[in-house]
Amino acid sequence: MNYDEAIEIAPGIYWVGFYDKTANFHCNPYLIVDGDEGYLIDPGSVPHFPIVARKVISIIDPKKISTLSVSHQDPDLAGSLPVFEDLINRDDLKIVTFKRVSFLLNHYGIRSKYYFFEENDNRIRLKSGRELIFVPTPYLHTPGAFGTYDTKSKILFSGDLFGAFSDDWDLYAGPNYNHQMELFHKPYMPSREIMRLVLENIEKLDLSMIASQHGSIIKKEQIKPSIDFLKNLEVGTYLKML
Ligand SMILES: [Fe+2]
Ligand SMILES: [Fe+2]
Repeated sequence: MNYDEAIEIAPGIYWVGFYDKTANFHCNPYLIVDGDEGYLIDPGSVPHFPIVARKVISIIDPKKISTLSVSHQDPDLAGSLPVFEDLINRDDLKIVTFKRVSFLLNHYGIRSKYYFFEENDNRIRLKSGRELIFVPTPYLHTPGAFGTYDTKSKILFSGDLFGAFSDDWDLYAGPNYNHQMELFHKPYMPSREIMRLVLENIEKLDLSMIASQHGSIIKKEQIKPSIDFLKNLEVGTYLKML
């Protein structure tokens, strides 16, 4: 696979991240192209912007991007929001998030209007009628965190949940992925009880893939074992170090 270029993971859905060979922690922005409308999920950090932007531009005219969505406020996914606002340069650009997240996003100097999904029945409709449904993942790992479920592709863009540390990174999860998720979830996720509640909601969805913001994409056959693994994983282990 050529990680120097955008990679289509499902029809019209692209991984547009930066493959840093020296890092064990990868960030995964995703672009949905629906007709002539673009929807960019967790666009990335400032240092990753040149690469992410080049990949986005290779697929769609940035002016056609109607929406930027950020699953929480961390700089590794939200830092480039103001630079993307400049590139897209649309008065009607929307930033989709949860209101609780916006209080911190404001500190990046964002100018666009927010679309708070909780005020819109936890969903957004693209111009074509395609619906994206938002799945709250509270405290995993930030209070307002959420995932995005695309009803057309049946992909869940899960934010930090299902993320991983991986020295030997691949876009798609391999046989060692549970261990890689464990390295990330144990210190970052606060409690198994909370994680279980959220995972019980997620497993009710008809899922074709889980595409997280870190680590690798989980394909259909690996979804149930991954959910079961996380449901039984002891997390919040950082507390024990205090
Ligand atoms: Fe995060
Ligand atoms: Fe993250």
